[in-house]
Amino acid sequence: MGSRTIDYRAPSVDAEQRAYAWTLMQSLMGGLPPPGAEGEAWYQRWCERTAALTDVRVASVQERGRSRVAGGLVVVPMGHFLCGRSVRTAAINAVAIAPEHRSQGVATSMMTACLREQRARGVPISTLFPATWSLYRRVGYEVAGSYRLSVIPLDRLPRPSPQDDAGFEISAFEEERDRSEILALYATWARSQQGALDRGPWMWLRVLHAMAQGKYDRPFAYVFRRESRLVAYVVFVQNTVPAMGYELAVLDFVGADRDAVLAVWRLLGAHRSMTPHVTMHVSSADPRVLALKEPPRHSITQSLDWVARILDVESAISARAYPKAVAGEIHLDVRDEVLPDNAGQFAVTVEGGQGAARRSTSAGAPRVTLDIRALAALYTGRMDARGLREMGLLHGDEDGVDRASAIFAAPAPWLGDMF
Ligand SMILES: CC(C)(COP(=O)(O)OP(=O)(O)OC[C@H]1O[C@@H](n2cnc3c(N)ncnc32)[C@H](O)[C@@H]1OP(=O)(O)O)[C@@H](O)C(=O)NCCC(=O)NCCS
Repeated sequence: MGSRTIDYRAPSVDAEQRAYAWTLMQSLMGGLPPPGAEGEAWYQRWCERTAALTDVRVASVQERGRSRVAGGLVVVPMGHFLCGRSVRTAAINAVAIAPEHRSQGVATSMMTACLREQRARGVPISTLFPATWSLYRRVGYEVAGSYRLSVIPLDRLPRPSPQDDAGFEISAFEEERDRSEILALYATWARSQQGALDRGPWMWLRVLHAMAQGKYDRPFAYVFRRESRLVAYVVFVQNTVPAMGYELAVLDFVGADRDAVLAVWRLLGAHRSMTPHVTMHVSSADPRVLALKEPPRHSITQSLDWVARILDVESAISARAYPKAVAGEIHLDVRDEVLPDNAGQFAVTVEGGQGAARRSTSAGAPRVTLDIRALAALYTGRMDARGLREMGLLHGDEDGVDRASAIFAAPAPWLGDMF
């Protein structure tokens, strides 16, 4: 067998970007765009809505004097709110390798190169939704938060009420008028949600325009004003079903306080003559659902985990916030085979809501030894050190395990957005 190398880079010509976009459609979207003008229109839209707002990268296989694009990925610059502070993430989207190039290590080497690139850029963490775990675990990702789709029956929601709705002016979203207030309201709310996205332009475009799987260009969006101030908004789609009615799916729902949240529920409840329920992503103890007088029995129909990768221990530790009441020091002995510069011994100190990690040569105590994967799960608050020790990813005595759990403790991280 001749020599074979895999290059990871931005597409150098449009033909390379097209080759990746087509592999993406085939691998993730269930089919190729139609040939001719319709396919070209799809590609131009993808360029505007994805390529222009993200970093497209391709994996090109060099073999027998030929170079072929085998697949690629998209890196979306965003953040996750962790204990109230936005931590920059290289959010990985649309990983796809053409079927004829699979199981030859192309995705593994592409992901490894991507992690090196993002670390060199100073990005502290990377996150993604794994379609397969072994690939991403192999390069250092581990469970970081949940993504749960709930089906909520509309007949248990409050009904529109002239009295309760009197304080609100409800109107259809108008981009120019409402955009900055929606972004500000979302940011305030997301800051209080462990793991929530600090969305960038790509994510906002998906929420407000491009989410409806091509069925509709623009979902329905309503804003709620109280004394002229925007205090709530909701974005949803109505997917047609064969018989009468539609499926109601909420893409985004934020209320500044309980009254504003209830006003949104009343608007959703007003759809009950055409559909029995609404789907939306919820956290495990979601204040929006628990704000209802009679929280409805709801079923979780989809429960996925998203995963994180610590690209740089020192900058990640200082990027996150910590509960102000927690103070202490822990020594971490971190293993990282994929990014060896990221491995080593660190003394981590947390005080007054701020954390810092410094390289250390002394074997201080309390200490734990852990794989870089374990640090990701600990860092977001998804798992405590005891659970990671049970998984065989962390080692330490009781003191070390208790201290690590206390320092990184956080509310359960979750996401309402898929990327
Ligand atoms: C998932 C996907 C990206 C993996 O791409 P890939 O290039 O086949 O991945 P790799 O070759 O690096 O790894 C796949 C398997 O090949 C094996 N492998 C790696 N190097 C190899 C080599 N040199 N020779 C033979 N097999 C190899 C790996 O052990 C791995 O198996 P495992 O994951 O069961 O442990 C690809 O299958 C794909 O595009 N699927 C459809 C879209 C999708 O699911 N995308 C992911 C969205 S998160």
